Amino acid sequence: MKKRFGILAGLVMVLILGACEYETIVPKQVVLPDEPVKFSTQIAPMFDEAGCTACHAGATNPDLRPDKAYESLVNGGYLNIVVPDDSKLIKKINSNHGTASNLSAEQKALLLKWIKEGAKNN
Ligand code: HEC
Repeated sequence: MKKRFGILAGLVMVLILGACEYETIVPKQVVLPDEPVKFSTQIAPMFDEAGCTACHAGATNPDLRPDKAYESLVNGGYLNIVVPDDSKLIKKINSNHGTASNLSAEQKALLLKWIKEGAKNN
């Protein structure tokens, strides 16, 4: 009887450990379509929607109003085309700066993809 219990307990342990082995943490991934990101429709309105323009509307750089954002981001050195992840803009949206938490994971991924594609004014 005792021996059987031991075997049973052993089996249960194997099952539990086995279950743990297959438990993997799946990182939150965003799958974006292959086509290039379009600044005018996908990026420019984003900052207004996320509330960035409550502060970034001229007085505080970068100016993120839809009609000013491109020039301000490119000329102000907020984008790093060579090392996109190192862009000041990307670092800011991934910190708890301002209203950055209003940006969805997809929007953040779009911003990074846009810079990786050369930050085009398309
Ligand atoms: C409550 C006001 C406020 C809001 C909202 C806000 N910002 Fe800012 N932001 C500032 C101020 C002030 C600075 C300058 C000081 C600093 O770098 O934090 C700044 C700086 C920045 C910079 C420049 C950082 C650098 O290294 O020079 C970027 C890029 C930026 N903000 C992006 C954003 C984006 C994108 C949003 C929206 C998701 C946003 N901010 C929302 C106030 C704000």
